[in-house]
Amino acid sequence: MTSILYGRPPAVFDPPADATQTSPLIPGSADLAEMAAASLDAATILAPPGVLERRYVLALALKALKPGGRLDVMAPKLKGGSRLGKELRELGLEPVESAKAHHRRCELVRPETVTGLDDAIEAGTARLVPGLDAWSQPGVFGWDRVDGGTALLAANLPPLKGAGADLGCGFGALSTVALASPAVTSLDMIDLDRRAVECARRNVEDPRARLHWADARTVDLTDLNFVVMNPPFHDGGAEDKALGQAFIRKAAAMLKKGGVLWMVANRHLPYEAELNAAFARVRPVADQGGYKVFEALK
Ligand SMILES: C[S@@+](CC[C@H](N)C(=O)[O-])C[C@H]1O[C@@H](n2cnc3c(N)ncnc32)[C@H](O)[C@@H]1O
Repeated sequence: MTSILYGRPPAVFDPPADATQTSPLIPGSADLAEMAAASLDAATILAPPGVLERRYVLALALKALKPGGRLDVMAPKLKGGSRLGKELRELGLEPVESAKAHHRRCELVRPETVTGLDDAIEAGTARLVPGLDAWSQPGVFGWDRVDGGTALLAANLPPLKGAGADLGCGFGALSTVALASPAVTSLDMIDLDRRAVECARRNVEDPRARLHWADARTVDLTDLNFVVMNPPFHDGGAEDKALGQAFIRKAAAMLKKGGVLWMVANRHLPYEAELNAAFARVRPVADQGGYKVFEALK
């Protein structure tokens, strides 16, 4: 039996242990878009929260399923779950709906033909976003705009030099600004999201850039001159300040003595104690529009 999993559904849904993982947020996983049409017996999907992203994933899974194959999809009620049934019925499908552990679940057997899949795939695929002038994809962080925090950090960033890293690089907005300095010799760009890394690869065509589809907390880099970051503050949809704090500790570990961290964060997030513990000198540089920018010297 050939089956895929997308994401990590809660154990109460009994996700298959032997299925191929296809979430772009799990480094090393397979890409659902690369699965051959009508090749799968079953797909179990923890549906993502964004509408375009969710419809894209469901359409890819339905395309990859054989007629007669089983789709089992669930999402937290307040993060798309309440719309799942409607979205599947819009594709002409008849899911059996149930509720469990604050999730809505839809199960169905794929009929011989399903219409509307190509439109959903096209709407969710990576593209050159007009106005942004960068490649991006629904589901990537702030996919069709430059984040306000990123813009504030970019406006305050001095010309950088030497070897650096961008932790949680997204589609590459901050990296592009960092690489504008000719004194930068290399830039390691790291993101957990395969889609972000693939878009960043297209946006930053620079021989000094190296892309990593990885968890920044586990990447082995040392002796850097600088780190730039707009760290994530959500893990699996819930606000998680520990993630940003871990990024601060990791940035400090990557830097050489005298190296500098430039970071931006939402104003309400408590990062000062972590910065002061990990760095010799911390300077608040800007506080505007709900964001704060820090320069921290190791
Ligand atoms: C606030 S966004 C910033 C994106 C980009 N640097 C920008 O300024 O637009 C944080 C990024 O961190 C990524 N991310 C989340 N957890 C991560 C992890 N453990 N390791 C690496 N990247 C992660 C997210 O996919 C997202 O692209």
